[in-house]
Amino acid sequence: MNPIVDAAAKVDFAFLIIFVISVAVLALVTGLMLWFLWRYHHTRHPEAENVRESVWLEVMWTLIPTILALGMFWFGWDSFKALQSAPEGALEVRVEGRMWSWAFIYDNGRRSNVLYVPVDTPVKLTMTSTDVLHSFYVPAFRIKRDTVPGMNTYAWFRPEEAGDYDILCAEYCGLKHANMLSVVRVVSDEEFGAWYTGETDTKAADKGKALLEEYGCVSCHSLDGSDGVGPTLKNIYGTTRQVVKADGTEAEVVADKPYLRRALLDPNAEVVKGYQAMMPGYDGVIPEEDLLEMVNWMANQGAMTMPMGRSVAEGEGCLSCHSTDGSEIAGPTFKNLYGSTVAVLRDGVEEQATADEAYLREAILEPEAVISKGYQPIMPPYGHLSEDDLSALVDWLKSLSKAGG
Ligand code: CUA
Repeated sequence: MNPIVDAAAKVDFAFLIIFVISVAVLALVTGLMLWFLWRYHHTRHPEAENVRESVWLEVMWTLIPTILALGMFWFGWDSFKALQSAPEGALEVRVEGRMWSWAFIYDNGRRSNVLYVPVDTPVKLTMTSTDVLHSFYVPAFRIKRDTVPGMNTYAWFRPEEAGDYDILCAEYCGLKHANMLSVVRVVSDEEFGAWYTGETDTKAADKGKALLEEYGCVSCHSLDGSDGVGPTLKNIYGTTRQVVKADGTEAEVVADKPYLRRALLDPNAEVVKGYQAMMPGYDGVIPEEDLLEMVNWMANQGAMTMPMGRSVAEGEGCLSCHSTDGSEIAGPTFKNLYGSTVAVLRDGVEEQATADEAYLREAILEPEAVISKGYQPIMPPYGHLSEDDLSALVDWLKSLSKAGG
């Protein structure tokens, strides 16, 4: 087989052969029917003939269809093999189908939801699926190949002209199957080089948004507030959400950074009420730096809706030691802290204190002065906080308590 003959040309040739054979058979059968109609009309042929045991006839009607069927099979097989065998030195791209988007992963770790390729270069696709069966379909390059979970399938093509070529999913894969669209973007060598090495990257500010698009999040979660298969991401940050946990219990959570991170890595542990537990987990799929960009982008575009004190608490890292839901981390929880009576050690002497505003301020600015009984004196002082930030923080702490809310 000549490897220079592109797979697409072989597919076209197989199509042409099958088409020509089909037309010939159609013409032959129709012609014979008409001829028999005329030739064996009862006026010309009143007595029906009874043909029996004609070896010649039986051999012909066995042999001819067999040759035709095997011939069509041969050309189909030949093009199947050609589509499978990429030439040496082809650009290798990994294709991942998932509900309901395509991800293209390059050798240098670059990821995209658009298949960027340089013009006139063979491109080898190694394809798989992370959930159900999909089918990678690019009509322009005569590629249609299933992507199968747990298995690799292959295809290759060589784009001859720059431009965008449609990618579709050709295997019914659920609710948004019809939206599982992308394009092959064929660009010049220079353009591809610049894209591949990241020189034409989006500005840092929009990186998180670009990543949400690249990972296919936006095919289920809109950015404009409209409802989709999943909740919209517009102003998601800081909102209070009713979620159903994996064990069926319900809880109220605030969409803060830790929540957004959990929702990406292990989405089905806390599903927003009213939605289906169908999102694939991205643990091990999204590298840490991408995860940060995405979470930060959601946080920044929603920052206006978040109480300022909460942003301060997040920015200062308070929440890694103090929970807001009553659970214990390294320090006392913020929930219902304001107004409560706490046992503290002041200069090593135990006393009862009321967690009022003055107490909270002191505990933030000089934590070592008042250690809550039973906790380690490990909190650093936060004297660097501006008065605005400090009062916002205290106001927010008040709002977390029945006494202050
Ligand atoms: Cu994926 Cu249809």
